[in-house]
Amino acid sequence: MLFDTHAHLNDPAFDKDREELISSLPEKGIEYVMNVGCCLDSSKDCIAMAEKYPFVYASVGSHPDSAGEVCEELMETYLQMAKHPKVKAIGEIGLDYYYEGFDKQTQIRAFKMQMELARQAELPVIIHERDAHGDGMEVVREFPDVTGVFHCYSGAAEMARQLVNRGWYIGFTGVLTFKNARKAVETAASIPLERIVLETDCPYMSPEPYRGKRNDPGRLIHMAEKLAQIRGLPVEEVIEITTENAKRLYRI
Ligand code: NI
Repeated sequence: MLFDTHAHLNDPAFDKDREELISSLPEKGIEYVMNVGCCLDSSKDCIAMAEKYPFVYASVGSHPDSAGEVCEELMETYLQMAKHPKVKAIGEIGLDYYYEGFDKQTQIRAFKMQMELARQAELPVIIHERDAHGDGMEVVREFPDVTGVFHCYSGAAEMARQLVNRGWYIGFTGVLTFKNARKAVETAASIPLERIVLETDCPYMSPEPYRGKRNDPGRLIHMAEKLAQIRGLPVEEVIEITTENAKRLYRI
């Protein structure tokens, strides 16, 4: 049974068939789903969904795109929300320098405030980090007590090894199955299997042969099959180990 460590089932892309889709996941081999918050509103939605489905868990936090909403008052709200028994992480938080016009200082400030929140809440973090590897590592080093997962990992294999040595997990999406995924494949081949978790990041990042289509947790098996191929292991073994890793990461 698989653990989708990063999903956005509250996304409007699922408005038409959400109930049906989520109810069908156990029979598709999905044992657990971490549904990840991106802002205050979506974090509330994630908790509501986790209350409804026993195998769905929640995280609370503000994505770098929502860094502007991060303030002391919001941290107090998240800290209270984090006491909910099904909230297992702070996230997704981090840095994204991909799109032009991003506000670096606001993002770094919001990231650090939420790393501090995770320290206080004693929860792991879910990191979104794109085109900000240097600054991302600097913040990681500033909070040695806080670890978690770098989701949809896009950095170099060497940085992943440094993160693993610091106790972090590395998350891979459908990107692993793309033809141009040289970097992700190299990383997935070279770090300990005990530190790898699988995720869909649905509705985004659909694996091949569904690239560009709406993704859902039922497609996680494609990531497991690709990882098994990269590591030269039976897929059953990869499923078992990555699910154990995810449960260890989120303390489930
Ligand atoms: Ni995400």
